[in-house]
Amino acid sequence: QQKVGLVGWRGMVGSVLMQRMQEEQDFAHIEPTFFTTSQKGSAAPDFAGKDAGVLEDAHDIEALSKQDIIITCQGGDYTKAVYNDLRATGWNGYWIDAASALRMKDDAVIILDPVNRKEIDSGIEKGIRTYVGGNCTVSLMLLALGGLFEKDLVEWASPMTYQAASGSGAQHMRELINQMGAIHSNVKAKVEDPATAILEIDQQVSEFIRSADYPSEQFGVPLAGSLIPYIDSQLPSGQSREEWKAQAEANKILGIKGSEVPIDGICVRVGAMRCHSQAITLKLKKDLPLAEIETILANHNDWVKVIPNDRDATMQELTPAKVTGTLSIPVGRIRKLNMGPEYISAFTVGDQLLWGAAEPLRRMLRIVLE
Ligand code: HSE
Repeated sequence: QQKVGLVGWRGMVGSVLMQRMQEEQDFAHIEPTFFTTSQKGSAAPDFAGKDAGVLEDAHDIEALSKQDIIITCQGGDYTKAVYNDLRATGWNGYWIDAASALRMKDDAVIILDPVNRKEIDSGIEKGIRTYVGGNCTVSLMLLALGGLFEKDLVEWASPMTYQAASGSGAQHMRELINQMGAIHSNVKAKVEDPATAILEIDQQVSEFIRSADYPSEQFGVPLAGSLIPYIDSQLPSGQSREEWKAQAEANKILGIKGSEVPIDGICVRVGAMRCHSQAITLKLKKDLPLAEIETILANHNDWVKVIPNDRDATMQELTPAKVTGTLSIPVGRIRKLNMGPEYISAFTVGDQLLWGAAEPLRRMLRIVLE
């Protein structure tokens, strides 16, 4: 069995990965070693259903170099700290990474196998040994719209996102809940008193949200009761880094070299827990009947699910509340826009921690083990 080193398995993405690896019995096919940045020598966890010995030091290059495959959810700083030193020893194992640090390198493939299995297979054949999960928003968009991209039908796409707190990290998810609770506690008595005018309640909420008593240490500004139309760092182009990733990563995943499909929009943080949603405007290269568009989308992969553009179906099926914790990728609100017959809208939702982060990594592991 291949030796697989697991790094960052205790964090949020890592924990979701461990869950999925147990559900899919991945541990039966590997000899796992669990790495730690703080507890070397402690007993390894028993996800594997077999003795994995003790935790190894995640910065111990020699211990890492004994692995055939390393999967890391530890984050970009960790990748930057060990990757080059590890490769410098001549280590030629598979490095499977959730962080963005190596994503755009020429000798790395972005992994999203239902969309780009060909790119992955040709990478393996060429001897590429570095495989990196995509940005969550990009991966979720491509799983939803993969059919149209595969058939080269997209002239351009403009995703406007509604991104969940989980994309910022575990502490941010906690803060979102604290914000919700704090608002309610602050105004509860008035909400419960039917005699209180709604504008008075609203006034109190507004003042509270802007006050120092409202918890916003993590996000810096209110999320619950508000939204944040900026994600990640600022770039000279006027885009946020999250917005920049859409075109750069999607084209790389699709293996498009030369004239890229323009993909650009505005990324917004909203008060959802772990499902990212996106409203996408697409210009197609030709005028296709809606039924054909829906068939192309529905047939692309096993997880995408076309939701009819119907009010009840949309409200029941196309929401973070419905999708959270599942691998389902519903896409709906598909219709022709007034701008012309090639312009269509779509709305999609996906779990940011599953298909957006952990799932492509464990599937890459299985591809390597095939
Ligand atoms: N950058 C994403 C977000 C998560 O902030 O929602 C990681 O892909």
